[in-house]
Amino acid sequence: MLDKFSLKKKKKEASASNYSKEHIDLSSVPSHIAIIMDGNGRWAKKRGLPRIAGHHEGMKVVRKIVKASNEIGVKALTLYAFSTENWKRPKSEVEYLMRLPEEFLGSFLPELVAENVQVRVMGNKEQLPAHTLRAINKAMNDTKENDGLILNFALNYGSRFEIIEGIKQIIKDTNNGKLSVDDINEELFSEYLMSSDLAEPDLLIRTSGEVRLSNFMLWQLAYAEFWFTEVLWPDFEEKNFYQAIVEYQRRGRRFGGV
Ligand code: IPE
Ligand code: IPE
Ligand code: MG
Repeated sequence: MLDKFSLKKKKKEASASNYSKEHIDLSSVPSHIAIIMDGNGRWAKKRGLPRIAGHHEGMKVVRKIVKASNEIGVKALTLYAFSTENWKRPKSEVEYLMRLPEEFLGSFLPELVAENVQVRVMGNKEQLPAHTLRAINKAMNDTKENDGLILNFALNYGSRFEIIEGIKQIIKDTNNGKLSVDDINEELFSEYLMSSDLAEPDLLIRTSGEVRLSNFMLWQLAYAEFWFTEVLWPDFEEKNFYQAIVEYQRRGRRFGGV
């Protein structure tokens, strides 16, 4: 780790094109980073390729960013892989996206196991095809004892769905006497969300120039720092990731205080 002076100097020198791990202050790395991985389709279109080629390329970037997160001590990385709205896409694209977890885990699960990564999935699993479910269940099972980086895929995830499901469960638990209305507060409500055992994200990254949440972690992102880049997900590299973290580290988080 660099001393404060050299760290400052390094930060000054850095431009978007040359951020490296050395620019990061390892004592204040965001614990939980959430990423809306966007722009795969446009990446493919620019090259005259089918959209699925962009998704395939994006998968390799996931591997790189998981590695980088692990190296700098990020505790949890949540990746938006498929939204509850993405079913509206052409059938062939949806089918490919539902094959991606198998493809990704088929290639990388042994490495994730070796790197002490714990794989999790949050989303409505009931609607997933059996083959997708098999692949993620195996990954979750094979890595459940790992206590390193939590790699949390948001798959068939929608924040409004999650909130409604949480409310329904709270009402059930109230009706059956497990809860009383006076028990309901922010902390309790968080426990009824799919991310219940994760800290809230500190940093949200969205690629591809879109500046919206697209139904992602509406509750949990209440106080996250947002960082947007024009870079399309398949072009996203470690240096972009480090830049996001350095810029996060320059911000003052006040949480309503002064
Ligand atoms: C993100 O890339 C991946 C998913 C939403 C599954 P897109 O497929 O949304 O790419 P664009 O936004 O069309 O470029
Ligand atoms: C959000 O991206 C979902 C994922 C990245 C999985 P979209 O590309 O689906 O979002 P919109 O439709 O542009 O808002
Ligand atoms: Mg998109």
